Amino acid sequence: MSNILITPSILNADYARLGDEVRNVVAAGADWLHLDVMDGQFVPNLTFGMGLIKSLRPHTTVPFDAHLMIHNPDALIPAFVDAGVDYISIHPETTPDTAKTIALIKSFGKQAGLVLNPDSPVEWVLPYLNDIHLILVMTALAGFGGQPFMPSMLPKITAVQTIIKESGRTIRLQVDCGINLQTAPQAIAAGADTLVAGTAIFKSADYAATIRALRGN
Ligand code: DX5
Ligand code: ZN
Repeated sequence: MSNILITPSILNADYARLGDEVRNVVAAGADWLHLDVMDGQFVPNLTFGMGLIKSLRPHTTVPFDAHLMIHNPDALIPAFVDAGVDYISIHPETTPDTAKTIALIKSFGKQAGLVLNPDSPVEWVLPYLNDIHLILVMTALAGFGGQPFMPSMLPKITAVQTIIKESGRTIRLQVDCGINLQTAPQAIAAGADTLVAGTAIFKSADYAATIRALRGN
């Protein structure tokens, strides 16, 4: 896939001026917005929830891509839908019934994604290929922004790309953690078509130049 999408993670944005940050990053060329929801239990960190997402929704029309790092997401999925998210990605190990969670997301007309932590095998996605729109390969353990990219995940990105190609379905291959100007070309060469970047964008002086460079043009 040649069109690379950039989805900035607001995890390391300035929360006190988040509306401005979102408008600025979208004006700078962001395709989606990546929203890292953490519960302090599935991951040892706590971020934000549906209230904050809902308050950001009027600030932009780009798709909202929620990365849920929370145990038992089903009970909260309707509230995230109400907050205006478009993609909802879950870690399969957070739900007792992955098929049911995917069906719930789709029942609201939303796009479902599955997330693979570094230790999660690619085989986990196989039963769900007909029902998902996105696979996210984590290039560091979920929980924190600013972690180094794990080059050992590059073959996994390629393995997932092969699985997607063989499925014949349109599924985006997203990569998240440690994406910067050095690692983005590696992830793209391995098969990624959708790049999450937090620190690399929000700690840069020129969001537009960084997004262009991450995209490879
Ligand atoms: C970490 C999150 C990432 C994180 C990326 O668990 O899923 O989305 O915000 O941040 P950087 O780009 O700084 O690695
Ligand atoms: Zn994320």
